[in-house]
Amino acid sequence: MASFYHYSFSFLLFCSLLFPILSPSIASTTSSRTKALVLPVTKDSATLQYLTHISQRTPLVPVKLTLDLGGQFLWVDCDQDYVSSTYKPAICDSAPCNLAQSKSCSESCFSDRPKPGCYNNTCSLFPDNSVTKTGTIGQFGQDIVSVQSTDGSNLGKMVSVSNFLFTCGSTFLLEGLANDVKGMAGLGRTKIGLPSQFSSAFSFDRKFAICLSSSTTSNGVVFFGAGPYVLNPGIDVSRSLTYTRLFINPVSTAASYFEGEKSSEYFIGVKSIKINNKVVRFNTSLLNIDKNGNGGTKISTVNPYTVLETSIYKAVVGAFVKALAKVPRVAAVAPFGACFDSNHIDVTRVGPAVPSIDLVLQSEDVVWNIYGANSMVQVNENVSCLGFVDGGIEPVTSIVIGGHQLENNLLQFDIANNRLGFSSSLFFMRTTCSNFNFKSNSA
Ligand SMILES: *[C@@H]1O[C@H](CO)[C@@H](O)[C@H](O)[C@H]1NC(C)=O
Ligand SMILES: *[C@@H]1O[C@H](CO)[C@@H](O)[C@H](O)[C@H]1NC(C)=O
Ligand SMILES: *[C@@H]1O[C@H](CO)[C@@H](O)[C@H](O)[C@H]1NC(C)=O
Repeated sequence: MASFYHYSFSFLLFCSLLFPILSPSIASTTSSRTKALVLPVTKDSATLQYLTHISQRTPLVPVKLTLDLGGQFLWVDCDQDYVSSTYKPAICDSAPCNLAQSKSCSESCFSDRPKPGCYNNTCSLFPDNSVTKTGTIGQFGQDIVSVQSTDGSNLGKMVSVSNFLFTCGSTFLLEGLANDVKGMAGLGRTKIGLPSQFSSAFSFDRKFAICLSSSTTSNGVVFFGAGPYVLNPGIDVSRSLTYTRLFINPVSTAASYFEGEKSSEYFIGVKSIKINNKVVRFNTSLLNIDKNGNGGTKISTVNPYTVLETSIYKAVVGAFVKALAKVPRVAAVAPFGACFDSNHIDVTRVGPAVPSIDLVLQSEDVVWNIYGANSMVQVNENVSCLGFVDGGIEPVTSIVIGGHQLENNLLQFDIANNRLGFSSSLFFMRTTCSNFNFKSNSA
């Protein structure tokens, strides 16, 4: 269903498969001393999307984007208001097209004059709206991008990447994204994802970290580069991480893709789920990624809440309700299935005092604990619901860990070493994801 047109596109637009392997040093840099970059992230109250903005084009304009952790690359709407004197299309068979592994060359684009998204002899990719699971085809190109550098504690100067690669999307692809958003910022594990392009432009480690704020009025942060990742009052969260392996799904999970393409999303190896220290019983084969790319556990910023395959969902909700039996249950509020009278739940430093939901990773000692602040959603002054939703039977991915469960936890994605570092709730360290100092400027 989601991958509906990948076959026809890959046939129709098939160009040439036999490209030589090229080094990924496409982007150029204005500073060789930049060690890390930061982007502010806000939570949109209407859509619950996490938004960021980058400056792009000549003259530079701020471009508002929905953050897509597993997204393949940056895409922006080129149909409307794309004006820039520094835009360059990616010529078929050129180094950028090979780096992106494009298998599609559009020989001609019919228009009075060439414009971003419509040049002749340009390679194309499939930009993806991962919120609505809609894909289309769009031309690949490059333009200047300007972002804020950091030493990990404070803002540094603005730095730019003159040949930042991105894909042109279309206006219709913006449907379902927050107001004024012009595209999506893909942080996925491809050579043209934001993390890889920034790392190669500034020669820093292929690592980045996300720290999403639960507030719609204060900024969370994405750091590109290794730590320190310092949050007020002076806490370097990069020193307090637990590590687990990242897995690669051999089959793309995008809306449309070239045959044989791997998923750009970040998968982890959940082995079991415990509630109140008791293993929740369900068919654990759903936790493995099979040869068709189905199953497993991924992390997503485009799902506001964790989505569980139906049988896992029922088992988790059942176990949670049982463990919280002393709190009166109230009528469910969609999209949630289990809601409680919150006046009967105490509050702790890590949110409502409810049993923790533990994702057991490679061993019994490596556990992602989800405490009340990340498990419960206060829907009104009297009602708090378990913030997990039913993903239906046979979803592509069995567990999708969503935004609410990520908030005020720092997650570091170490692409080169294939591992995820996670902090657990920052409330234990008496800080939050809104505590990066975006105000001062040390440069
Ligand atoms: C592409 O080439 C065709 C045929 O030469 C021409 O008619 C058309 O205007 C060109 N399009 C662009 C966008 O340059
Ligand atoms: C468990 O799930 C797998 C994968 O969906 C399925 O093939 C298998 O039949 C299931 N086993 C049981 C006992 O339901
Ligand atoms: C919450 O409970 C109080 C006391 O029963 C009641 O007065 C109030 O209207 C309730 N609020 C909502 C939103 O239902």
